Amino acid sequence: MKSRTVLAKPGCMVILLIGLMMEERAGLAALGCSPRDGRQGRERKMAKMEAKTSLLDNMIGVGDMVLLEPLNEDTFINNLKKRFDHNEIYTYIGSVVISLNPYRSLPIYSPEKVEEYRNRNFYELSPHIFALSDEAYRSLRDQDKDQCILITGESGAGKTEASKLVMSYVAAVCGKGAEVNQVKEQLLQSNPVLEAFGNAKTVRNDNSSRFGKYMDIEFDFKGDPLGGVISNYLLEKSRVVKQPRGERNFHIFYQILSGGSEDLLCKLKLEQDFSRYNYLGLDSARVNGVDDAANFRTVRNAMQIVGFMDHETQSVFEVVAAVLKLGNIEFKPESRVNGLDESKIKDKNELKEICELTGIDQSVLERAFSFRTVEAKQEKVSTTLNVAQAYYARDALAKNLYSRLFSWLVTRINESIKAQTKVRKKVMGVLDIYGFEIFEENSFEQFIINYCNEKLQQIFIELTLKEEQEEYIREGIEWTHIEYFNNAIICDLIENNQSGILAMLDEECLRPGTVTDDTFLEKLNQICATHQHFESRMSKCSRFLNDTSLPHCCFRIQHYAGKVMYQVEGFVDKNNDLLYRDLSQAMWKANHSLIKDLFPEGNPAKINLKRPPTAGSQFKASVATLMKNLQTKNPNYIRCIKPNDKKAAHIFNDALVCHQVRYLGLLENVRVRRAGYAFRQPYEPCLERYKMLCKQTWPHWRGPARDGVEVLFNDLEIPEEEYSFGRSKIFIRNPRTLFKLEDLRKQRLEDLATLIQKIYRGWKCRTHFLLMKKSQIVIASWYRRYAQQKKYQKIKSSAIVVQSYIRGWKARKLLRELKHQKRCNKAVTTIAAYWHGTQARRELKRLKEEARRKHAVAVIWAYWLGLKVRREYRKFFRANAGRKISEFILQKIIQKYFLEMKNKMPSLSPVDKNWPARPYLFLDSTHNELKRIFHLWRCKKYRDQFTDQQKLVYEEKLEASELFKDKKALYPASVGQPFQGAYLEISKNPKYKKLKDAVDEKIIIAEVVNKINRANGKATSRIFLLTNSNVLLADQKSGNIKSEVPLGDVTKVSMSSQNDGFFAVHLKEGSGAAGKGDFLFSSDHLIEMATKLYRTTLSQTKQKLNIEISDEFLVQFRQDKVCVKFIQGNQRNGNVPTCKRKNNRLLEVAVP
Ligand SMILES: Nc1ncnc2c1ncn2[C@@H]1O[C@H](COP(=O)(O)OP(=O)(O)O)[C@@H](O)[C@H]1O
Ligand SMILES: [Mg+2]
Repeated sequence: MKSRTVLAKPGCMVILLIGLMMEERAGLAALGCSPRDGRQGRERKMAKMEAKTSLLDNMIGVGDMVLLEPLNEDTFINNLKKRFDHNEIYTYIGSVVISLNPYRSLPIYSPEKVEEYRNRNFYELSPHIFALSDEAYRSLRDQDKDQCILITGESGAGKTEASKLVMSYVAAVCGKGAEVNQVKEQLLQSNPVLEAFGNAKTVRNDNSSRFGKYMDIEFDFKGDPLGGVISNYLLEKSRVVKQPRGERNFHIFYQILSGGSEDLLCKLKLEQDFSRYNYLGLDSARVNGVDDAANFRTVRNAMQIVGFMDHETQSVFEVVAAVLKLGNIEFKPESRVNGLDESKIKDKNELKEICELTGIDQSVLERAFSFRTVEAKQEKVSTTLNVAQAYYARDALAKNLYSRLFSWLVTRINESIKAQTKVRKKVMGVLDIYGFEIFEENSFEQFIINYCNEKLQQIFIELTLKEEQEEYIREGIEWTHIEYFNNAIICDLIENNQSGILAMLDEECLRPGTVTDDTFLEKLNQICATHQHFESRMSKCSRFLNDTSLPHCCFRIQHYAGKVMYQVEGFVDKNNDLLYRDLSQAMWKANHSLIKDLFPEGNPAKINLKRPPTAGSQFKASVATLMKNLQTKNPNYIRCIKPNDKKAAHIFNDALVCHQVRYLGLLENVRVRRAGYAFRQPYEPCLERYKMLCKQTWPHWRGPARDGVEVLFNDLEIPEEEYSFGRSKIFIRNPRTLFKLEDLRKQRLEDLATLIQKIYRGWKCRTHFLLMKKSQIVIASWYRRYAQQKKYQKIKSSAIVVQSYIRGWKARKLLRELKHQKRCNKAVTTIAAYWHGTQARRELKRLKEEARRKHAVAVIWAYWLGLKVRREYRKFFRANAGRKISEFILQKIIQKYFLEMKNKMPSLSPVDKNWPARPYLFLDSTHNELKRIFHLWRCKKYRDQFTDQQKLVYEEKLEASELFKDKKALYPASVGQPFQGAYLEISKNPKYKKLKDAVDEKIIIAEVVNKINRANGKATSRIFLLTNSNVLLADQKSGNIKSEVPLGDVTKVSMSSQNDGFFAVHLKEGSGAAGKGDFLFSSDHLIEMATKLYRTTLSQTKQKLNIEISDEFLVQFRQDKVCVKFIQGNQRNGNVPTCKRKNNRLLEVAVP
């Protein structure tokens, strides 16, 4: 029935409107108004889901109690039992899930199952906690409704497991991604940490939660988890120091001892043996099926994942160890002189270790265990503690340390898992609180726990039974009231501000004077005696005086879930929750940051003399806040039932289950569901949601919403019995009707969507068309412009061409005319010129004629005059005048010739061939003679300049010219070369010192020549020396004289007429030097050498040396005569003549 309360909220309309399209995707279940009425579910099934698996298919018993027929307690229990026996532990009452604890693991929580239930309608599959989780999650995600999952039931009924299942399901189906996964993992891993520190084995449950936990999981608009906030409610801290028989302390103690490494234990100064620690009840230190060591590893891992730093984890364990060791501190009495009892610590070793662990000064702690300082305004009184008080102090410290550590852990976890963004969050709260408890001995803790459960029952009743029925009445719907037990009266007994048990307990605690648990009981007896649900032996007019089952020190409350007897002992102390200030100050002084943080009130600077709020009032306040919080959310119920008290599988204790069914009010729950309406909704959102189904209401209904709905339903022909009109809401009985509406709506939405699509497409096409048209016009205009431009350009250019032709033609015509005119002008001018010319010439002719005539006249006149003169004077100079005149003229001419010759004289160079031309023929011989004399004269002049040396050279050159000019082709080249003779400077070169020493005469020629080898024609360099008496041949390198020929023995020198340097030196036959035969040389200075040899021979021997110039001559080599033949035109070796031996008798010299 959750939908009803929520849909009644005004915000829903908007949500539904916005959700209009979205919901289609999410399906019917996402409506948040899922028709869960079983009876209607059956009809719905028949109408809608015949082929589908559903609640009824293959159903064991009845999946939804609403379908149960007949409905009474027996059938109810039997149905549960039947289903339980077939492992069907979940059963619905409408949207409420009943969960039976199977006490064994069932294969129904696998990932496949998660997938199976994901995004499915609540009724589609068999009842499961996942179906509820899915429903809640989708409602949160798609409809923006904050959710809370309320899990109730006795201790051990499976609440904690259920809460974990819900969380793991949500974690599995919500968003994915690295960041989201980390958030999920941290949220999930907070469970093992809190369970280790807050759960313990009790007789009812091996893993009983000893604290209340409410966790808000926060999601973003997409449904991805962002983080969470955990609230914890009153830890049962008395368990730290004492556990009832058969129970254990909190798991963490055992886990550290079993699972802690040697190193860790050593650091914590702990031993593995449980029996070493007074605070660990020995009875059931080990629990079957629980592996403390493995769990310890899980816890450490979880702490790491949640984000605890290593040093934080270590600090936490140190505090745990300190608590454990506190229990081992024992006191012994010691009397003091003034008669006051005093206590003393028996063995200080443990104290010392605690102090070492926590960094507390040993003396400070020791003093805190022996004295109590009470401060009141200005006074400060110190009293000693007796043994009992010392033990009390010790236990109080241990409990406080532990419970504060637990709260710190929750805060620390919250720090890690808190959402990192400030965006609006959707919240899913999961409440897992300690279940209703009845133990053999029940104390303050059980009282508190059960009070909390009363409150939860209250909220269940409020929201399901009471609120629903009241709504029908409020809305004016015909309704027969269904009776149910409302536990508000019990809540009032406990929490009433004036007469409630908690208020009285607080009163007692604050009252001055002696306050004990008995005085508190007395007070209860006075005030609550008449209360229906309160029982006690001592009450004044006690109805229970004879009830021996009720001891004197107890009171009994009839809770909704049964009677619980509470031992009054410890109520005052526990409510006071007193920790001596000395101890909190000692703790604050600890050199341990965590412990210091846990006891802020120990700071002397922050001393607060006001009493802290009592445990009871704190709890009451926090429960009130919780209830308020839950009421703002859409509730989802999981009602846990435990099938037996033995924590055993397969055992179904009818009586026990029946008891729970009764006090949970489940039957009433079914009845209300069955009689009621499946669905309700305020008129406005209803009309808004379905108005498209009727022409009158679509798209706008102007009248009141109720009338609109009426018109709508009439139009749809929904049978009248199917719905009722409330004051502000429409109530629909059958889900079938709702489904029909939804189907129609869906169909209509499709049509509307098609319509929208149609219009949209039409609009889109039209706009597109218009756009195209517009574009086309633009393009066309541009194109036309372009085409016109082109055309215009073409016409323009054609016009220009035509124009140019015409202009050309015109211009040519004009030109022609102008030319014609010009020619005419020219012709006229020419004609004129000719005419003028003719005129002029005629005139000239006439003038010339006239002039000639005048000249002729003058000549004739002159001749006539001459004639007249000669005739007259002939008789005076005819005898010698002619001769005298001719002599004079001749003299004048010769004078002029010589004077001119003086200026025309050529240069003094003997080779200058210039000579001025002859001016008169009669001077021809004179002129040539003059030329010859001048040349001789200038040669003489030239010769007169010569030195003796030059004279000698020219003599030699002259000699050479005589010998070789026009005979040897080499000669002209030699003319320009000065004859040096001593080309080798033998006297200066130290290399030839020996040679110089050997020759004592004047050296005429010293030159390197090639001596031709007679055998092969190859050349060997030799130094050729000519002295006045000898020809010497010496080795070029060493300077050794090879041959020496006296000039007298040289008979002949032969050479070719060609342009080569070969020459043979023939020796006199029979002379001493001729032994080896003639020499054949080649030299670059042949002409000079031959000339000098000739001159020297002539001067020395007075004989002319025979120089033979011939292209073929014989040379005497030893015995043989070899012919040396010169051939012209061989270009093979460039310009160098080559000599080759052709045969024994022939040496061939090729001259280029
Ligand atoms: N759905 C379940 N499947 C299997 N075992 C379960 C289931 N629910 C509970 N139990 C068993 O019952 C024990 C007690 O459950 P728990 O949730 O701790 O009870 P509660 O929190 O109500 O006191 C668990 O330790 C577990 O062994
Ligand atoms: Mg629990």
